[in-house]
Amino acid sequence: MKVTWKLPDGSEITAEVTHGQTLMEAALANNVPGVIGECGGCMSCATCHVVVDEAWRAATGAPGEMEDAMLDVTAAPRQPASRLSCQITAAPELDGLVLIVPEE
Ligand code: FES
Repeated sequence: MKVTWKLPDGSEITAEVTHGQTLMEAALANNVPGVIGECGGCMSCATCHVVVDEAWRAATGAPGEMEDAMLDVTAAPRQPASRLSCQITAAPELDGLVLIVPEE
């Protein structure tokens, strides 16, 4: 499946992502700046914060309770469509997904 990350400088990175991979792992594999994934995906760092493009909000769903709490401590201000990308798993129904990388 394809995923596009929109960067704060206006540029974009589009990459082929393997199903089953988290979008934090995919961002690291494709050198997406601003997605750090310090905790390795165990939901304790919030450095994998992304904002889901409006068109993809329903498909990606809402954050779970733990994730919701971590989204309150992200470096960049939380937005209504904020998610931790380590909690989104690549799947066929997300083909074409667009994620916005917040500034910082
Ligand atoms: S990688 Fe640490 S919370 Fe997602």
